[in-house]
Amino acid sequence: MGYSLEYFQKSVDYIRQFVSWTPEIAVVLGSFLGPFAEAIEDPIVINYSDIPNFLVSTVPGHAGKLIFGTVAGRRVVCMSGRFHSYEGYDFEQLVIPIRVFRLLGAKAVILTNAAGAVNAEYRPGEVMIVSDHIKLTGASPMRGPNVDAFGPRFFDVTRMYTPALRKLAWECAEGSGLTFHEGVYMFFTGPQFETPAEIRAARLLGADAVGMSTVTEALTAAHCGMPLLCLSVMTNMAAGVLDQPLTNEEVLETAGSIAGPFSDYIKKIIERIGEGIP
Ligand code: HPA
Repeated sequence: MGYSLEYFQKSVDYIRQFVSWTPEIAVVLGSFLGPFAEAIEDPIVINYSDIPNFLVSTVPGHAGKLIFGTVAGRRVVCMSGRFHSYEGYDFEQLVIPIRVFRLLGAKAVILTNAAGAVNAEYRPGEVMIVSDHIKLTGASPMRGPNVDAFGPRFFDVTRMYTPALRKLAWECAEGSGLTFHEGVYMFFTGPQFETPAEIRAARLLGADAVGMSTVTEALTAAHCGMPLLCLSVMTNMAAGVLDQPLTNEEVLETAGSIAGPFSDYIKKIIERIGEGIP
């Protein structure tokens, strides 16, 4: 299956009734980034469930709201709550938010997520600037008839994690109080965490972190040529690295513990992002 331009335009037309200005930057917040969402100035909040042709969040902790407003003097649209394939959505459906942001006029995308650390040098609470990804499972979000208005049928992804934005992310890291790495994110469909054998395989393949989100959004941004920055917060060592089971509580606890400094860090990037948009 696949959607026509008109399909996405219907969501845009609804949003335009409430928001007359153009958001410069679209930010997708991992479930733990409540403090960032709360700090958005002059917010206009729209529930996903009210937007025609949009999707709804089913994951506890994912608020399910689009928040338009100002951060560090820049106009942004934030997704508080994102969509995952494990919720039952087709990969093709997961293009919807980023395409809607594109039609609203957003010029760049920042994606954040919680991830398990595969690289044994990484520690929970550290941040990985994503340089590339591995996605060997599931369909492409661009499967089905191509919508030429967004991008070409076959598209290059060699520099999809925009080098200039990664450079900016490193510059803003200074003084943030957080520890940074740059590495490869490997997508797993979830919702089960990976097996220790899958994590060993991921490491052999070159992954530094694993997670269940982000890659569909990233590919959608790449398809329509939007500059993209992706940041992963290591919430746990991946399965089998430590001799203990993984729990969602651990993920939420670690993420919550750095939510404050991480929110400040993203604000700093937003303040300066114009310099990184090619
Ligand atoms: N695996 C997959 N997704 C995750 C993990 C993990 O270990 N931690 C947070 N999100």
